[in-house]
Formats: sequence, structure tokens, C-alpha cells
Amino acid sequence: MKKIDKYILEKINLYTNKIVVITGANSGIGYEAMNVLASKNAHIIMACRSLDRANKARNKVLETFPDSKIDILEYDQSSFSSIEKFIKNLQNNYPHIDALVCNAGIFHPAIGKKTIDNFPLTIGTNYLGLFYLVEKLRKDYLKHTKLILVSSIVYKYTKIKDYQFLKEENHKSFKQYCVSKLCIARYFEFLKNNTDLQVFLMHPGISNTNIFTSQTSSYKQWFKNLANKLLPLFVHAPKKAALGISLLVANDYSNHTFLGPRGLFEISGYPKILKLRKNGRIESEALYEKTKKVIQEGVYNA
Ligand SMILES: NC(=O)c1ccc[n+]([C@@H]2O[C@H](COP(=O)([O-])OP(=O)(O)OC[C@H]3O[C@@H](n4cnc5c(N)ncnc54)[C@H](OP(=O)(O)O)[C@@H]3O)[C@@H](O)[C@H]2O)c1
Repeated sequence: MKKIDKYILEKINLYTNKIVVITGANSGIGYEAMNVLASKNAHIIMACRSLDRANKARNKVLETFPDSKIDILEYDQSSFSSIEKFIKNLQNNYPHIDALVCNAGIFHPAIGKKTIDNFPLTIGTNYLGLFYLVEKLRKDYLKHTKLILVSSIVYKYTKIKDYQFLKEENHKSFKQYCVSKLCIARYFEFLKNNTDLQVFLMHPGISNTNIFTSQTSSYKQWFKNLANKLLPLFVHAPKKAALGISLLVANDYSNHTFLGPRGLFEISGYPKILKLRKNGRIESEALYEKTKKVIQEGVYNA
């Protein structure tokens, strides 16, 4: 048996008959977390923007775990109306969920791309969509649910000076991604300090998923092909990168635990508990208020 399979078998608890929702479960880290949790008897709800891609991923998991309970709900994190529809579907069909994993995200779209609601695409998808979903659910529906937010190591290496980025694409693509992941870390901090939620944070290190090569990414095809060949040599596999999610879902950690890879510079390795670094001049409470306002008013009136 491979070391990672032994780790999954021995270190991750069973999750029998408990319900977990995973956004972006059809690919990469979300998909690998779904596999592990299926092996632990979880009932999984995939929240995905493409029903076709979700069905294909679901069928692949069912080949290995044929008795798994896996449902699919349509969910586009770059559209507030899609999120609203998803919430209605979720609440109508599942009176309670045990865990919500906010994993969906994009990297490096073409400059100038916007969400359906006219927000910058990276910030709008990775941060504003996630924020919108959690804010709509957290007061009642998530009271007894574990919430797991997926950030990135890059949260440590970026700073926010003002709030303009919420409305305008005033940074290069990579910086926008970093800022979106810093915002998720700060939102985690806000929820930790201001609510009774069971809220957890994880970052997966760096992994050769579809994030660099997906349709949303603006890299040229030759670069995507090269990345597909070279990346696996330097980073860890999605299966390992996803372990933090399954651990936080199925095991008992004290509230507000933050997990990331234990290797050099937290790039790869099995998960360990991390300390959230304070960075940037913007406080989580101020960012929270500004985000709420920007979403409420819409990009044109903010
Ligand atoms: N890979 C890394 O090195 C790395 C490092 C740090 C953090 N992360 C984070 O890990 C998370 C998962 O990424 P990944 O690496 O597994 O990439 P991935 O293979 O591209 O998976 C991303 C998932 O998010 C979904 N998604 C993207 N936009 C969406 C939208 N508007 N609505 C709903 N779902 C959407 C994708 O759906 P489609 O298949 O339909 O595109 C896909 O299922 C992301 O939050 C990412 O920022 C990844």
C-alpha cells in the first residue's frame, strides 16, 4: 500500500452518513477531497458550475466507490443569482449539512474579464462569491456545520493598501489572485473573532491541478502543455494537497484550526497546524464591512 493511502486509512476518520458540500468538487483538490471522503462513507454534495464536468467526476468516483452517495447541485460562484438558486436548492433538499468546503477558485483569467455582476473576475469569483454564499447561510443554516475555507500560501506574500481592488482590476492577474486569497484568510479571521461558527482554514501548498491550465486561465496553450509536464516534478500531487480538507471535515480539531503542508516553505507535504500570519494594513473587520457594502451597492454605485 502506498504511504499516502496508509495515511488516509489510518489518520482520517470515518464520516458515515454525514453530509459534506464541496464547491468545485469536479476537479483538482476538491475532486481528491471528494474521493477521500467517499472512501469514508460521506454523503457528498458537489457544488459545480458545469453539470457535465460534475457528472463525469462523480462517475469516476463511483467506479472506485460504487456505494457512495454523491449528489450534484449547480453552483456558479461568479454569479450572485446562481448562488441564490444554489442556496434555495440546498436548503429545500437538505435541512442540515455537516460540513461546507469552500474550495472553488480560479487563477489568472484574461485581463478585463468580469463576473456576471460586473466585478473583477478573480476577486469576484474567489472572494466575493465565497463571501456571498457564507454570509447568506451562516446565521441559521451553518450554525451546527463545519465551515472550511480554502486559501493559498500566497496570502502571506501580498498586501492590500485600499479597497479599490474590490471594484476595479487595478492589479496584474497574479496579484489579484494573491489578494483574493488574502481576503479569504482575513474573512476567516473575521468569522473567528466575531461569530460562533465552527470555521477552519486550509491552504494546499502548490499542486499540479487544473488551476493553471483550465479554460478560465489565460495562459497560452504551449505554456499550459509545458506546465502540465513540468509542474508534477516540483510540486505535490493533488491527492496530497487535498488531505487538509478531509482531515478538517472528518476529524476533531479545535475550532479555528488552520492546516497547510508541513514541507519547506509550506509548498508540499502532509498537513500540519499553522499559525495565521498578520499582514497588510487592512483589518479583517474593516475589510468585512467594505466587502458587504460593495456587494450591497453593486459595482457601479459603490
Ligand atoms: N493548485 C494549487 O497549487 C493551489 C494552491 C493554493 C490554493 N489553491 C486553491 O485550491 C482551490 C482548488 O483549486 P485547484 O487547484 O483544485 O484547481 P482546479 O483543478 O482548477 O479546480 C478548481 C475548481 O473550482 C471550480 N470553479 C472555478 N470557478 C468556479 C465558479 N465560478 N463557480 C463554481 N466553481 C468554480 C472549477 O470548476 P471548473 O472545472 O468548471 O472550472 C474546479 O472544479 C482553489 O480555491 C485554489 O485557489 C490551489
